[in-house]
Amino acid sequence: MGETLTILGLESSCDDTAAAVVRKRGEAPPEILSSVVRGQAELHAPFGGVVPEIAARAHAEKLDLCVEEALAQAGVGLGDLDAIAVTAGPGLIGGVLSGVMCAKGIAAATGLPLVGVNHLAGHALTPRLTDRLTFPYLMLLASGGHCQFLAVEGAETFTRLGGTIDDAPGEAFDKTAKLLGLPQPGGPAVEAEAAQGDAARFAFPRPLLDRPGCDMSFSGLKTALLRARDALIAEKGGITRADRADLCAAFQAAVRDVLAEKARRAIAAAPAGLTALAVAGGVAANRTVRAALEEVAGAAQLPFVAPPLALCTDNAAMIAWAGLERFRAGGRDDMRLAARPRWPLDDRSPALVGAGKKGAKA
Ligand code: KG4
Ligand code: ZN
Repeated sequence: MGETLTILGLESSCDDTAAAVVRKRGEAPPEILSSVVRGQAELHAPFGGVVPEIAARAHAEKLDLCVEEALAQAGVGLGDLDAIAVTAGPGLIGGVLSGVMCAKGIAAATGLPLVGVNHLAGHALTPRLTDRLTFPYLMLLASGGHCQFLAVEGAETFTRLGGTIDDAPGEAFDKTAKLLGLPQPGGPAVEAEAAQGDAARFAFPRPLLDRPGCDMSFSGLKTALLRARDALIAEKGGITRADRADLCAAFQAAVRDVLAEKARRAIAAAPAGLTALAVAGGVAANRTVRAALEEVAGAAQLPFVAPPLALCTDNAAMIAWAGLERFRAGGRDDMRLAARPRWPLDDRSPALVGAGKKGAKA
């Protein structure tokens, strides 16, 4: 039968305040008993980006409400828990601190063990929660703030095979939307436009494909798009609906090609015995990108695993789960647990030049 573990997870590293309860009973599949996410999009919308001070205050106000709701939805009390897991980084320091302080408060009041979790480990271990993947598998994390290929070899063993040296792909989608007057977040808006467009009309670059390895770059693409847009404006005084759709399609095709080719290389560079290619992060919602990655996985005879979108984007179920994996392996923290704005998952690989400029979102 085996042991039963019930873990409360807290997440507050960027602009989502979240709490969740996850339970693992013996050999049975893990269960998400509740997953509460309170976004802050409307608070930040007037500023065109996440404002750290506003985010930190909103987290501090909402965390305990999220915890109450998560416990109520799960039908458990604090006494039913085995530990409190909390994102201890990387992320916006004010938000991470709010979460760590809240978790410490609950741990001090109840005597429950505290488990600090790396937010990226939360994303990277999600396919074990949703699809029970076994190690090692390859994970592409592609979001608004991060882009990296990770060989996931154990609950605390990750090897970064490559990553972006500048912008994250979600950030590039968002900037493209901004340049073309489309709403934020840019990804879904650009994808919808691209569906009507002709990707062959503009020859945008495929950055870093000419160099070996799995590192990526997306900031040049945005510049190419800006130039193409300005050339159209200079020529005709503006851009038409069709121009915009074609620009979006060409941009999306370039992102797709880069991610697909780098995924091919990451599979080749990964440890032997990979069980799957998995994806997480908002960009994994893109159907064109997803189809290309699925094809790459298929060609390498690997299953392609994409957790449901609500578990691909920021949430606390992934933190509870990563905490559970750490806890059952003996991982514990105490009141000295620090909030870390930067916390690479794989500190053996060299830091990426310029990566995480935007810093906060993962
Ligand atoms: O993982 P996520 O929800 O948040 C973090 O960055 O942590 O990812 C959000 C990013 C945004 O940049 C958004 O534009 C992008 O994911 N995104 C997409 C799509 N949906 C969301 N990018 C491309 N195509 C989409 N359908
Ligand atoms: Zn994230």
